[in-house]
Amino acid sequence: MKKIVVGISGASGMPLAIHLLKVLRTNPDVETHLVISTGAQMTILQETNMAIADVLALADYVYDNHNVAASIASGTFETAGMIVVPCSMKTVAGIAHGYSDNLLLRSCDVTIKEQRQLILVTRESPLSPIHLENLTHLSRLHHVMIMPPMLTYYNLPQTIEDMEIHMIGKILSQFGIEVDQFKRWQ
Ligand SMILES: Cc1cc2nc3c(=O)[nH]c(=O)nc-3n(C[C@H](O)[C@H](O)[C@H](O)COP(=O)(O)O)c2cc1C
Repeated sequence: MKKIVVGISGASGMPLAIHLLKVLRTNPDVETHLVISTGAQMTILQETNMAIADVLALADYVYDNHNVAASIASGTFETAGMIVVPCSMKTVAGIAHGYSDNLLLRSCDVTIKEQRQLILVTRESPLSPIHLENLTHLSRLHHVMIMPPMLTYYNLPQTIEDMEIHMIGKILSQFGIEVDQFKRWQ
């Protein structure tokens, strides 16, 4: 069983996070460990018509972001890595500077120190020099990948969901997971 930690922070893009959790839920080889920030709770209410409890119900295990004693706060709890989707610039700053004052940040810190895959689906526009410096710093770490949810047109998407699937396919490829509807460039 592949354990993947999913962090949802308070950037825009909740439908993408929810879509990713739904895709992972259909995979019998994956176990999801979810932590969501306070900012994310606000953004979920703003951007979706789902209750927080319904989003949490999409994961196998859920952790309180204040609980820095949870299993995912320790490197001895083995996982395949972590995805932060969407990843706010505040969370980027916390990760880049090792400022782990909540479970989501601590779990990213652990993922980096254990040299496991960390995918940051960062979202902000425009990006300030502060954002770019933090992102550059993180992108130089071997196991960290900055993967902003960019619009892609070459796969001829018809819906926003098509665009999301393309993004989710790219994210999960990093964990060796193939997404059915993901169209690779031939
Ligand atoms: C509706 C909404 C959308 C937001 N979108 C973004 C965003 O795209 N990128 C970002 O960095 N912050 C965004 N923010 C601000 C963050 O939620 C805020 O900085 C928060 O403190 C982030 O904390 P967290 O990373 O712990 O969730 C948004 C806030 C709201 C309410």
